[in-house]
Amino acid sequence: MLTEVTAVRYVTPLREGGSLPGLVEAVDDGASGPPRAAVPTGSAASPAPYVLKFTGAGQGRKTLVAEVVCGGLARRLGLRVPGLVGVRLDPVLGLGEPDPEVQQLLKSSGGLNLGMEFLSGALGFDPLAFAVDPLEAGRVVWFDALVNNVDRSWRNPNLLVWHGDLWLIDHGATMIWHHNWPTAPAASARGYDASDHALAGYRPDVAAAAAELAPLVTEDLLAEVTADVPDAWLADEPGFDDADAVRRAYAEALLPRARSIHERITLEGATP
Ligand SMILES: Nc1ncnc2c1ncn2[C@@H]1O[C@H](COP(=O)(O)OP(=O)(O)OP(=O)(O)O)[C@@H](O)[C@H]1O
Ligand SMILES: [Mg+2]
Repeated sequence: MLTEVTAVRYVTPLREGGSLPGLVEAVDDGASGPPRAAVPTGSAASPAPYVLKFTGAGQGRKTLVAEVVCGGLARRLGLRVPGLVGVRLDPVLGLGEPDPEVQQLLKSSGGLNLGMEFLSGALGFDPLAFAVDPLEAGRVVWFDALVNNVDRSWRNPNLLVWHGDLWLIDHGATMIWHHNWPTAPAASARGYDASDHALAGYRPDVAAAAAELAPLVTEDLLAEVTADVPDAWLADEPGFDDADAVRRAYAEALLPRARSIHERITLEGATP
């Protein structure tokens, strides 16, 4: 389960994001017990800032499930990703918001939303200004191949540079197989075309990354990762009895893929 905090102020929309994520301030009011995540949770005296991804956004709740599964997996594999929390939102917060689009989003997102630690002052990744070594590039490409991330191209890298390090954000467009579970075994067995990947030109050492990271992706680890997804975002999935059955489906798609995806990554055509 994610640590939960309560939004106390909607600050501003992050205009760059297609799903209109927003910056909010939130506090840990103790309702979800002691913090479990390594994320600063804020207090009544000093609320903490989060990037909020709304359940009411057009992309739907599966985007949020993907963020939780991939963010949790990346963090456990030692990749840099912002910490995640659940953010309780009272739609009343939107009443003073002048932008009708934002007001609508807040209105339709009452209840639990997804919050990400805000990397204040982070810069967008610029390949001309930032060097990435082949080992790190390999880890990122291998991870993106594992979760089938189609949103890390050089056009839209979804990488930030914060305090001199590379951070991964935006894992909503991953695991395409969760949009059609009956075909998931076949879809999750397919390869990954990384020729357009933002780090394809850094000579990614995918073999080294696979040797290091694949053995870490175990049934236990995936059970831990999927346990963080709130039940409400998994409920009523056609073909499944309950939320735990959906959690197992995520794990069953990723476990075999971790063993062999390095053999099916295409890097041809990437410019060094
Ligand atoms: N944790 C964070 N800390 C600081 N800035 C962030 C963070 N997450 C996102 N941002 C900023 O907000 C922008 C939009 O975020 P994100 O890419 O996650 O949203 P999205 O709606 O899924 O985007 P897309 O347009 O790629 O679909 C990012 O490009 C980045 O500038
Ligand atoms: Mg993005």
